[in-house]
Amino acid sequence: MQAAHIFANAERYDRHAGRLAARLYARVVTDAAASGLPAGARVLDAGTGPGRIPRDLAALRPAWTVDAVDLEPRMIDFARRQDTEGRVTFAVGDVAALPYPDETFDLIVSSISQHHWDDVEGGIRDLRRVLRPGGRLWIYDVRWALRRALRVAEKTFDSVRKEPVALGHWPLGMLVTRLSARA
Ligand SMILES: C[S@@+](CC[C@H](N)C(=O)[O-])C[C@H]1O[C@@H](n2cnc3c(N)ncnc32)[C@H](O)[C@@H]1O
Repeated sequence: MQAAHIFANAERYDRHAGRLAARLYARVVTDAAASGLPAGARVLDAGTGPGRIPRDLAALRPAWTVDAVDLEPRMIDFARRQDTEGRVTFAVGDVAALPYPDETFDLIVSSISQHHWDDVEGGIRDLRRVLRPGGRLWIYDVRWALRRALRVAEKTFDSVRKEPVALGHWPLGMLVTRLSARA
């Protein structure tokens, strides 16, 4: 299924989100970069949109392999064009039917995408499938949108936590929570 039409205009989304979500992007990248993963680790950004997070992360951690997936082909097309260094591997795909083999990633991040997923249960299950043993899933989203994801993650992962993400200013700063799960 196609993502909502609001994501068809990737350039416009990127212009607004690049400003409004800058602190969140920086936080996700900082958290991921500080995760302690070794060289050769493979990291996925799920629901990447215009791909700022994987681009920044790949620049900061060149020894990692960074992938990014999104349901909307026009987002992926735009994201690929912004990645002029070609450091990120982008794919069109649904979080509930990911185009990757089992046990591919050490860390999966996802930023303000989960509340758009049609099939949250399928998404959490498929993200779990593509994580290596001990791998981590970090979903950043507005806190009231994470309830269902949390319930499914509790059944699917070995350990799950929900923690506030202090970003400072309104609007996202007041609202964002991170669901952290370990496979
Ligand atoms: C609000 S944007 C967030 C984009 C980016 N992560 C960010 O933080 O700016 C939500 C993104 O989730 C994508 N999306 C929605 N449902 C999806 C699904 N089932 N699988 C993969 N991506 C999805 C949309 O196409 C859109 O690009």
